[in-house]
Amino acid sequence: MKNFDAHSRALGYVPTPPEVVAFMVHLAAPPTHAPCAVLEPACADARFLHAFRQAYGNQHRLVGVELNPEAAQESNTGAVTAPVPRMEIIIADFLLWDTSERFDVILGNPPYGIVGDASHYPIHLLKERKPLYKHHCTTWKGKYNLYGAFMEKAARLLKPNGKLVFIVPTTWLILDDFALLRRFLAERGHLEVFYVGRVFRGVNVSAVIVRFIHGKRGLALYDMANGEWQKLGRNGMGKATSPVPKSPVVSKLDYAGELIRFETPEWLTFEQSGVPLGELFHIHFAARSPEFRKSRLIRTASKAGYVPVLTGRNLSVGRIDYDTCYSGWWMRREDAPKLRQWYAEPHLVVGHTKGVRLVCAVDWQCYPWREEYHLLLREGVQVDWEGLERYLNSEQVQAYLQALYRDFTPHLTKTMLKRVPVPTQYAALE
Ligand SMILES: C[S@@+](CC[C@H](N)C(=O)[O-])C[C@H]1O[C@@H](n2cnc3c(N)ncnc32)[C@H](O)[C@@H]1O
Repeated sequence: MKNFDAHSRALGYVPTPPEVVAFMVHLAAPPTHAPCAVLEPACADARFLHAFRQAYGNQHRLVGVELNPEAAQESNTGAVTAPVPRMEIIIADFLLWDTSERFDVILGNPPYGIVGDASHYPIHLLKERKPLYKHHCTTWKGKYNLYGAFMEKAARLLKPNGKLVFIVPTTWLILDDFALLRRFLAERGHLEVFYVGRVFRGVNVSAVIVRFIHGKRGLALYDMANGEWQKLGRNGMGKATSPVPKSPVVSKLDYAGELIRFETPEWLTFEQSGVPLGELFHIHFAARSPEFRKSRLIRTASKAGYVPVLTGRNLSVGRIDYDTCYSGWWMRREDAPKLRQWYAEPHLVVGHTKGVRLVCAVDWQCYPWREEYHLLLREGVQVDWEGLERYLNSEQVQAYLQALYRDFTPHLTKTMLKRVPVPTQYAALE
């Protein structure tokens, strides 16, 4: 395979490791030996199609779609005409590809990334097409991500009872931007989600393999983090028995698109034992850097009467360092409410920390902040600040977050925070 050049990277090129391909081809097994139509979107070298043919025979029609002709050349099929029997590689944008054909099996590894400016987002080469993508994709929400659009389009191209097997990041399981996608999939088919974690070497992505059967219903979430399934790749397809555990961690017959988390009965009982943090507090994010700059209230050197603008580095478990300036900005404390009125109220600050971990402290001195979540008491809530701070920083809360969300997102999210249960001894409605 070609080097990882900048052009390929800007189109989301990341090769799938052979053991992952082997496991996914195993999951994509056709129901009979009868010829079926198989599609690999974003195929590059068409490794899934080749592996499928090797595992299940020459009789199947194999179609690959790839945007980057250079990447497709690696598929060994001479681009459009096909020396490999019954294999066709089409150079096209999969999200805009118009076809009336429907498929029995769709499998592969779509590109991941938010489409936008090169300064902020990885997929900048497709920026001009974004309005078209949004037009064709009914699940597009917020910043969205190319892989979500690929999941929708692929699900639409399945025959009844057809099977989609994709490897995608874990973020769609819980982020709000994917709420429409989860509902779309729940309404159209049965979802099996196999959590495999960090299987792409050198890439900071936690992944799940999704098997979606068109026309059925329900959800099953499996924990495959122990890597047992990788033996399939090493032992060869024919010899392996199924590496899928007999019972999923989560199984819902009536799945309707809710968050997908490792909800064990024990942790659900724990979650239900208190009031959700989001019912006790309004959760805000700090004013952003451009707002501080535009406000003209900041200066870049300290001066009598000015305090540091605080960042995540000023926050640790149960403690705020009010003295060190990590942001490089100072401002008058009395000016902070001009940016966010609630900076003036003592409130709970929770770190937007890397990894799913909750770190918090009460800001009694009401400083300006450039980062972090800020939790303001809802009307009529009584709180034991010290007890609440200690509880939220406790190992029990960390264990709860780890158990349900693992490494699904790079940071603690507002959705996770809202659901943390608070025992009534620490905070309650009057
Ligand atoms: C994650 S790589 C997968 C490559 C290969 N299927 C594999 O698993 O090793 C994603 C591929 O999607 C291609 N791609 C990106 N956007 C595309 C689009 N809109 N339509 C078709 N292919 C696209 C990229 O050029 C890249 O080759």
